[in-house]
Amino acid sequence: MEIKVENLSKNFKNKKALNNVSLDLQSGGLIGLIGPNGAGKSTLFNILTTLQKPTTGKIFLNNKDIVKNPSLMQKNMGFMPQKVPFLPNLTLKEYLNYIAGIKGIPARNAKMEIESLITKFNLLTVPKKQTLSHFSGGMIQRVGMCVALMGNPQIIVVDEPTAGLDPEERINLRNILSELATEKLVIMSTHIISDIEAVANKIIVLKDGKVKYDGSAIDLMSKASKNVWSMTFPTQTSIKEIEKLGKVSSIVQTMDGIQARIIANQKPTANSINVKPHLEDAYLFLESEGDKA
Ligand SMILES: Nc1ncnc2c1ncn2[C@@H]1O[C@H](COP(=O)(O)OP(=O)(O)O)[C@@H](O)[C@H]1O
Ligand SMILES: [Mg+2]
Repeated sequence: MEIKVENLSKNFKNKKALNNVSLDLQSGGLIGLIGPNGAGKSTLFNILTTLQKPTTGKIFLNNKDIVKNPSLMQKNMGFMPQKVPFLPNLTLKEYLNYIAGIKGIPARNAKMEIESLITKFNLLTVPKKQTLSHFSGGMIQRVGMCVALMGNPQIIVVDEPTAGLDPEERINLRNILSELATEKLVIMSTHIISDIEAVANKIIVLKDGKVKYDGSAIDLMSKASKNVWSMTFPTQTSIKEIEKLGKVSSIVQTMDGIQARIIANQKPTANSINVKPHLEDAYLFLESEGDKA
């Protein structure tokens, strides 16, 4: 599976939600789309999944134009939108059966598939009669994942799937998506970098509707290799003082004082040590580069 996005733009009145985005997305390894709120992540996904039409630009799935033929994409794709839709008065199984019907999955197969999805996303213990209106946000999020994966689609698009999940569920979801990505085209968006730090093969950074980075996590981190510093300040140092030295990646109170990680072009203090960037540092570095431009 290969999706090619060419010069895609989407305007809402006078707002450019996407501004000339070009991407090449392939199966084999999780693709992480990161960017702050309002960057255009959901708009990109809504267009990729054919819910919305681009203002200009083209999208090809295995070289076929899906803006002209949306059903080509719809047949191959499972989508979890950022706001997971559901029918509040149905129970989990009623709802998933209803979705199986829409997806054209035969009843025999549906039963087995639903059982396996419910197990995968730890929804087995939900009381059978509980309707979806009584599910927590995190539970609805997991229902949304069941819907996205039902029918074994070859392309899986998930928009901020970790929102509302507790740490254990987050890790479970991450593992499921990264396993699926060995064979399928899986793309997930998030504004939380640690969600994709360990699992994304390819990272796309979107900001103000533009692609700021498209490549491997390792390359992104190596870009920042000379710019991440670790140092210790006396306990009474004010955070304002520390922030003057560069972009602060982290501040931790320790027995020896305040331990900080700072992104800066030059050694910020005499006792600073140049350290290996984490993905979060590299992301901040990319942002600081953007500020200068
Ligand atoms: N239907 C819409 N009408 C008007 N503006 C929109 C609409 N959808 C998105 N936007 C705007 O487009 C920009 C990108 O939004 P979105 O794609 O939701 O970003 P993200 O998912 O990265 O948070 C934002 O400024 C948002 O307000
Ligand atoms: Mg969004």
